[in-house]
Amino acid sequence: MDWGLKNRLSRIIKPETGKTVMLAVDHGYFLGPTTGLEEPGKTIAPLLPYADALMPTRGVLRTSVDASTSVPIVLRVSGGNSILKELSDEEITVTMEDAIRLNVSAVAVSIYVGAEYQKQTIMNLARMINEGERYGIPVLAVTAVGKDMARDARYLALACRIAAELGAHFVKTYYCDDFERVVRTCPVPIVMAGGKKIPELDALKLTYNAIKKGASGVDMGRNIFQAESPVAMIQAVRAVVHEKATPKKAYALYLSLKEAEAKRRKK
Ligand code: R5P
Repeated sequence: MDWGLKNRLSRIIKPETGKTVMLAVDHGYFLGPTTGLEEPGKTIAPLLPYADALMPTRGVLRTSVDASTSVPIVLRVSGGNSILKELSDEEITVTMEDAIRLNVSAVAVSIYVGAEYQKQTIMNLARMINEGERYGIPVLAVTAVGKDMARDARYLALACRIAAELGAHFVKTYYCDDFERVVRTCPVPIVMAGGKKIPELDALKLTYNAIKKGASGVDMGRNIFQAESPVAMIQAVRAVVHEKATPKKAYALYLSLKEAEAKRRKK
């Protein structure tokens, strides 16, 4: 792997632990003003100091993230769909040149394996990998799931392996039963997407299990920014990912940070 590409990847997946806590805030590209992200700048600012990397769209990066940040950016560069139409109908929305101009550390492209526009999305990924290789920019493949698609190990292993075979440098996928199989059969690092909001303790258990079964970290959105205390939640997730904290210990940390924040607000 090229030095620049390796260097950028190591800004995201921290060499000290081999893990990452990425904060996903790209949901608006097809969901519009998602709960918790109505005003992205207000959501992102207090969480940014605790994120190993931030995953926004170009518009949110430009308008809502302080350009002086040292947090590496994983820029979403596929889109063109919306929640109202066929989700898999995505194309590339940002050129590699603009991604470089924005000083990103990686770009992210969704693939919809088994969906109507499977080939189009896989070719989107292949194109950005070719360009990423040219400029030393790593590519994160997002194994997006259509509305009626199963999220089991058989399907997710298929999607992750296809992404890795094409040359994706890391892959984002969902947690599932037999997650070990998904990790074992994918030769590049896997980060777990959080999925829909669930109770905080359950989200920490999910994180713990994913790490235990070989994930290189998380790329989590709603389970952080829709938590009762997002700043406490991202720190609890960090404790699981980087310090191998148990869900019980991480949840206790969450509760104590949440309480401290509430007290500060009262003053
Ligand atoms: C979806 O395609 C987006 O890439 C989101 O960033 C992704 O789903 C992760 O966010 P969440 O943890 O909310 O599922």
